[in-house]
Amino acid sequence: MKFEKLKVDPLSKARAGTITTDHGTIETPIFMPVGTRATVKGIHQKELREAINPDIILGNTYHLFLRPGTEILKKAGGLHQFMNWDRNILTDSGGYQVYSLSANRKIKEEGVKFKSHIDGSMHWFTPENVMDIQREIGADIIMAFDECTPYPCDYKYAKRSMHMTHRWLERCIKRINETEPLYGHQQTLFPIVQGSTYKDLRQQSAEYIAGVGAEGNAIGGLSVGEPDDEMYAMTEVVNNILPEDKPRYLMGVGTPINLLENIALGVDMFDCVMPTRNARNGMLFTADGFINIKNKKWEDDFSPIDANGYTWVDTEYSKAYLRHLFSVKELLGLQIASIHNLGFYLWLVREARQQIIDGTFKPWKEKMVKNMATRL
Ligand code: GUN
Repeated sequence: MKFEKLKVDPLSKARAGTITTDHGTIETPIFMPVGTRATVKGIHQKELREAINPDIILGNTYHLFLRPGTEILKKAGGLHQFMNWDRNILTDSGGYQVYSLSANRKIKEEGVKFKSHIDGSMHWFTPENVMDIQREIGADIIMAFDECTPYPCDYKYAKRSMHMTHRWLERCIKRINETEPLYGHQQTLFPIVQGSTYKDLRQQSAEYIAGVGAEGNAIGGLSVGEPDDEMYAMTEVVNNILPEDKPRYLMGVGTPINLLENIALGVDMFDCVMPTRNARNGMLFTADGFINIKNKKWEDDFSPIDANGYTWVDTEYSKAYLRHLFSVKELLGLQIASIHNLGFYLWLVREARQQIIDGTFKPWKEKMVKNMATRL
């Protein structure tokens, strides 16, 4: 994997760059649509490629391990082949889902014993088998196995957990170095900074992670309920320490405003279920603010969903039509809203990139943050 930093904004820490892997080049900053179970919910791969056009999407080890399972994925020739996606994929390690989804989990030094949220069956995740599973899934970028601490989290727990995440990282690295990719393309391991909302722990963790010398680094344990200002404060502390010549990935973030604020702090990669999950609840993001398309006020608004037209659905259909689809619970409504929101998120990071290249990012960001906070 290769990262090239092309331009740094003169008034902030925002960077424009490229990440190149065996599955092509990713222009950064990037938002990665979430395809948890080998699908970006409600969207054909063809629509994803042609209308939304991300260079990379995300899959989840926890879900893919439970269903369809690694035997099927191996038989298919890996996740790229299985879902017919020939661009980049990143898989999260399960270090988040195992805590948020499974009942009855037991965290020990060895790993995590957990009960499947689907059928109640018991499983173990260890740093070693999570690396093996991610080899079998075959993503281009794979994540270290970590513990994502909840918010709030007491200092003693956060510290103990952070040290365990660091020890788990050593085991992940050892296993990756002992094994080979299965499908002929390289896989790059990203370690994850933890430390909850404690500045000194975040510093310590960032120093430890930076010392590992990985090709890219992630920041975890944020967007778990803390106020935005605390999130930004942690990103800032960590980004002052993580190497500048390696991509930085902020996991599970966030709103369009969170994306721009963290880009300004030097983050290059994001993922979040928000654009697709909120779309399914009728919430649309636009450059002028956010819309609840289920509101009665849109009942006879025959203007396009979004006149700016990030994807073809924005000008093909009216707000009144989309509201109707939500009122009668038609599947097409969920699809249109999902395409719109992802189209907007990808437009937002592409526009941020262009503004960084043009040297106009900071004033543009200030204006966008104000506009996007408006309820329409
Ligand atoms: N997704 C969002 N936050 C996290 C985190 O802290 N760890 C992992 N593995 N995934 C995440």
